[in-house]
Amino acid sequence: MFSRRVTPKLKATAGTRSLVRSTIVPRCFQTTVAKLDLISQLSQRNRVTVITGGSRGIGLFLGEAIASLGGDIAILDIIEPQKSRDVLKSRYNVKVEYYKTDITSQSNIESSFDQVVAEFGRVDNCVTAAGIALDKPFIDTTWEESKKLLDINLLGTYFTAQAAARRMIDQKVPGSIVTVASIAAHSAIPGQRVSIYGASKAAVKLVSKTLAVELAPHGIRVNSISPGFISTDMSKQFAHLTDLFNRVPPVGRIGQREDLALAVAYLLSSSGAAYTTGADIPVTGGLIGGRIEV
Ligand SMILES: NC(=O)c1ccc[n+]([C@@H]2O[C@H](COP(=O)([O-])OP(=O)(O)OC[C@H]3O[C@@H](n4cnc5c(N)ncnc54)[C@H](O)[C@@H]3O)[C@@H](O)[C@H]2O)c1
Repeated sequence: MFSRRVTPKLKATAGTRSLVRSTIVPRCFQTTVAKLDLISQLSQRNRVTVITGGSRGIGLFLGEAIASLGGDIAILDIIEPQKSRDVLKSRYNVKVEYYKTDITSQSNIESSFDQVVAEFGRVDNCVTAAGIALDKPFIDTTWEESKKLLDINLLGTYFTAQAAARRMIDQKVPGSIVTVASIAAHSAIPGQRVSIYGASKAAVKLVSKTLAVELAPHGIRVNSISPGFISTDMSKQFAHLTDLFNRVPPVGRIGQREDLALAVAYLLSSSGAAYTTGADIPVTGGLIGGRIEV
């Protein structure tokens, strides 16, 4: 890890003599490193990613992004994928399978992961994109709709991460878990009343941070992304807010799923992001910083 080398150019004085004689230089800071190859660090070749909510929207696009990097993908969702698996398989020459899964059922999650291990042989990464939204005034929000939302967004994410971590620990190989939080995990957001949704996403963000600490000894990294307004079926539920979604982010437009892909590719990179765990990446077109013009 460390090596001893002489630093010839420094002129010795009483204060620097010991420094001149020998300097301990961590190997990672020495200039004789191999040629950099950041592109190959993004490769997902021979790696298996389980992605919840992978049948449409952000999850589907992130699945395709991982496939484009050569990764095999297992989609867990309650609905059939909106894009043909055969198209993805032939376009990217990867393995793609779908497992009908309701992430509010722990036994359903566990049996889907068992099938993934049986058919793919392993789990290297997990992306938890399944989720629902609720835009409703606090005063009118009911216990039942809050419970449903927390079951999916928080407990579904939590026990999916647990299922993934259990397989990664059994395999004794490093893994990466990326959860999908939201800008609503950070503050109130313009135009919407999403207190219980924001609570669920703030919990996802915090759980990701604490799991990063707990799972680090197993070589498992856990990070979250916090998207802002992203154009998907979920955001289309709020068609009356289209103008606001394009107006309020400081960069002046709604986000596209493409805007998230490289943030996730980075977090899944076992060598490129080896030192990144417990982090959250907001991808919000600047909205995370607030607004000046109103
Ligand atoms: N679209 C946005 O503006 C936005 C912003 C921030 C965060 N997010 C988050 O990103 C994630 C994806 O959002 P999206 O916009 O793609 O939404 P979407 O509604 O298009 O997709 C959500 C997916 O989750 C699946 N799902 C829902 N409940 C499930 C369950 N019980 N079990 C298994 N799968 C289930 C759905 O079937 C669907 O395929 C969500 O967690 C959402 O909260 C979205």
